[in-house]
Parts: sequence; C-alpha cells; structure tokens
Amino acid sequence: MTNTHIHQFDAVIVGAGGAGLYAALEVAEHMENAAVLSKIYPSRSHTGAAQGGVGAALGNREPDSPEWHMFDTVKGSDYLADQNAVEIFCHEAIDTVIELEHLGLPFNRTKDGKIDQRRFGGHTKEFGQGPVRRACYAADRTGHMILQTLFQQCIKHQVKFYSEFHVLDIVIEQGRCVGLVAYEIATGHLHIFHAKTVLLATGGSGRLYKITSNAHGLSGDGMAIPFHHGVPLQDMEFFQFHPTGIYQMGILLSEACRGEGGKLINGKGERFMEKYAPTLLDLAPRDLISQYIYEEIHMGNGINGKDYVHLDLRHLGKDRIEKKLPDITDFVRTYLGLDPVKDLIPVQPTAHYSMGGIPTTINGEVLKDGVNTVLPGLYAAGEAACVSVHGANRLGTNSLVDILVFGRRSGIAMAEYASKNDYTPLPPAPEAPVQSRINALMTRPLKESAARIRADLQTQMMDNCGVHREEKGLTQAKNKITEYRQRFEAVGVRNKGEVYNSELLETMELENLIDLADATVQSALARRESRGAHARQDHPKRDDKNFLKHSLAHKNDQKTDITYKPVIITKFEPKERKY
Ligand code: FUM
Repeated sequence: MTNTHIHQFDAVIVGAGGAGLYAALEVAEHMENAAVLSKIYPSRSHTGAAQGGVGAALGNREPDSPEWHMFDTVKGSDYLADQNAVEIFCHEAIDTVIELEHLGLPFNRTKDGKIDQRRFGGHTKEFGQGPVRRACYAADRTGHMILQTLFQQCIKHQVKFYSEFHVLDIVIEQGRCVGLVAYEIATGHLHIFHAKTVLLATGGSGRLYKITSNAHGLSGDGMAIPFHHGVPLQDMEFFQFHPTGIYQMGILLSEACRGEGGKLINGKGERFMEKYAPTLLDLAPRDLISQYIYEEIHMGNGINGKDYVHLDLRHLGKDRIEKKLPDITDFVRTYLGLDPVKDLIPVQPTAHYSMGGIPTTINGEVLKDGVNTVLPGLYAAGEAACVSVHGANRLGTNSLVDILVFGRRSGIAMAEYASKNDYTPLPPAPEAPVQSRINALMTRPLKESAARIRADLQTQMMDNCGVHREEKGLTQAKNKITEYRQRFEAVGVRNKGEVYNSELLETMELENLIDLADATVQSALARRESRGAHARQDHPKRDDKNFLKHSLAHKNDQKTDITYKPVIITKFEPKERKY
C-alpha cells in the first residue's frame, strides 16, 4: 500500500450524520471550505435510524417552556448533566427546529399548519406534573428526514464529500490537531487531510453489545482515536438500553409507539408500569423502564417465563398505526411476520446510546484533560461527544436535539477558528503509524479470528455490563477484555486485497471496540452507586456524596485509569427521581 494522497481544507468533518452535516453546512455558510468524510454513503448514516422525534418546547399543541424541558433533561440525567449546557440546549432546540423547517424538513402538521408534537418519555409540563407534547416529528422517520434535508443543503452549499473513507488517525503537531489520515475503502489508498479544524461526529459504539439497535458501522472509531492520543473519555459507564428492541434482534421500535398510546404488558397480562411510574406510566424515562422490564423478567413475569415482554399497539387502530408509525409497522411485519394492528409484539431492552464520549465545551472544542484544557483545532459533536447534556441517562428525542444544537455550534466555532488561524505545517510522514499498523495486520500469520473475538466481547458486555451490573460480573468482564487484547495480537487478515477489504476494516474496528469496552467496564467498576443507566445491583442507591461527578477514563499504554471532575449545577439541585 504505497499510494498516498494529500488534501487541504479549512474544516474536515468525520461523519455524515446530523451533527456532521449541520456543522459542514455552517462552515460552508461562513464561506470556509469544508470536506465531510464518511465510511458509508452519507444518506445511510445512523441518524436515519432515529425514529420518533426531536424535542423542542414549541408549545404548538399545549403550553410548554424551555425551562420545563431543562428540568426534565436534568432530572432524566439523574442530575449528572452539566446544567449550563442543558440550558443552551433547550433554548436552541427551538431555533434549530424552526431553521430545519425553513430548510425544508417535512414535519407532520397540526390542523392549523404548525409543526405537530407528540409525547415522549420523561418530557413533562410544569416541572413533572404530567406528560407534554414536545417531540416534533415526521411520522416515525424523523432522523431520516433530518439527514435528507441537511445532505441536500450541504450539496447546495458545495460541501465536498468523501464517501467510503474510513478515518484511522488524527494528526497532532505543535499541540494542535492539524489533520487526519483516512483509508479509501474502494482502493486501499491512504489519504492525508491537512486541516485547520477537524470535527469528530462519528456517532456511537452500540456494537460493543450483542443486542443493539445500532448499525454495523457503529464501532466508536471517533471516540477511540483521540483516546489513543491521550484525550480522556467521559462518563463511559452510562450506556443506554432502549426498552423496546425487537426480541433477539435489537431493531428499534420507537418510543413514539408509547407516545401514541402503546402499552407494555408482562406475562401475566398486566400493564406493569402502573406500579413503577404511576404518573408517566409507559412514558417514564428509558433507563428506568429497561430496569423494570428486567425486574419483571427476574420475578418470572416475562412472556411464558422468558426474557421479554410485549408491546401492545392494537387498541390504537389500523389507521393511526399505519399513518403515525409506518416504519415500525413495516419492521414488525417484515422481521417478525406479525401485524401490530392485530398482534402483541415481543420486545426486550436493546443497547442504544452512549451517554459518554469525548469531553467538549459547549462549542464542540475537545477537552484534553480533567481541568478542561482545550486541544486546539479538534472538535467533537453528537453521540461521539459528551458535552454533557445527558448525564447518566438521555431522554428520548434529545439525541436529535444534541446533534442539531451542538453540530451547528461546532460548525460556527470551526469557521471562526479557521478564519483567524493559518495552517500549521504537517509533520513528516503523518501516515506512517497507520501504514505500519496496516502492514502488521496484513503480514502476520492468521492464528485467531477477529469475528470470534468480537462475538465474545459483545456477549461479555451484554452479560456483565448491560442494564444491571455488579462487581463480580464487571471484574470478569475486565479480565476477559485483557484476554481479548492478548488474543488480538494473533489476529491476521486472510484477504490480502486492496479493494473493499472489509475484513481489514472490521479488524481495525475491533481494536477500537476493545479499548472502548475497557473504558466502559473500568468506569462502571469504579462507580459504586446506581445512577441513571448505571444500575449496580451491589450498590442500588444513588450516592451524591461520593459520586455526583463525571468520570474520565484515561488510556495509559495498555492500562485504563479513572479520574473525576465536577458536575456543573446551576438551577436544579439533585432530588429523588419519581415519575
Ligand atoms: O424511540 C425512538 O424513537 C428513539 C429516539 C431517541 O433515541 O431519541
């Protein structure tokens, strides 16, 4: 592999989901030149899988306020979100949704032509008094519509796209990020992108788990790359399980099903959320519902004593189901051979969203240590980042708000930085570390299979670092991860070709997954309390005295060390979470 190509851009954006595209659009609108790299074709990005809605307190169906949205987000986060960031997030949600409407996004409409809004988990009126209609939606294809709208706008603004380019490294020189190295999947060539600014907007790492709603490409590459350069990863122990994945497949059935009135039913035919969350019922936050589903299963109340429950939409009627939930209707008919109009749907919690990620400022600037020092030139946004607005648990619809608000803010900040700074020269041969990594994988004898290690890792994470955790299982997972790292040294690549060598790519993705699993498990072991999505069976209570703080996982050679930094509290003091 000797072919190397060099490009130069003011802003290079990695990832063509909502965060990356919104940032690219802002850079282009500010007259700086932008390139977007994506390891898949942009319109296949995982934002397209976000179904039910984007939360913004427009008040189109009933009174609402960004203050109530802020309260819900902070309470939903189990008080671990940084409240200065949440305040901006809830106010700017309104502007970004209206901007998207003006850019052409085909939202569902009320009878008088306003953007329609539906209910979603954890979103309430008057600081928790009852559910509110806050989710702006386009049927159950909201993310797909955001993606199409932003992609079209980027094309219009002449953003340059490099599709099927897999980013393998960032280049740090004189203490700044000055570019990146990418692998062109179609040819096996390496490309160096010399940049004033780089944004990592690569999405999440759901492929850490066996049952996940995440697409195959979500191997957390954008989190792992800065981690290898000494940037810590924040709050990695908080991984959200969405309560309604299709049983044994993990495919997402939107919370909008329950927003439209769907119910969860156990093996005794009971609407079990009545006993756990009498006010919000099936629209309590996801962390809690996933935990309650497993409690029901452990009590023997799964369907036929098995590890799933039912989602019941039948009472909504054919017309409402097919009009408001067309995609999930299709999924259930296609993947299960069932009809949601007539049948109960088997569901189980599915690994859905990483609350943790690369620590950033409210403008997407990457923070390289525990005292919030910015790494100039490097930005992160969306699920790869941790601002932190979701804390220990994200509310439904707030992921789309996150990619829009912080994708946009990052793009504005990058354009400003690029307009004020010259290019820092590249170091000699910035592609050399990547090239030698590829050479090693391509030449060493194949004694171990990457696919086998990945399957073992995903099962281990599901069993011991899933919805419920405890010290014994987490310690086992930690030891197993060390073993996977050793086994990885014996992995070789059978396919020696340069054209679409997916075996090589998946092997490099596995290396990232192993490091992220280690950061997740070690952060989970160190947090001896239960908070949000981190439910420790051996420490069932929240412990604000010792753990009202963000974790930071640092990579030191083969070791992961954990430190902490304070949470920013401005308006809402921690209280017990009741729904
Ligand atoms: O349930 C859903 O439609 C997913 C939304 C989200 O993760 O915010």
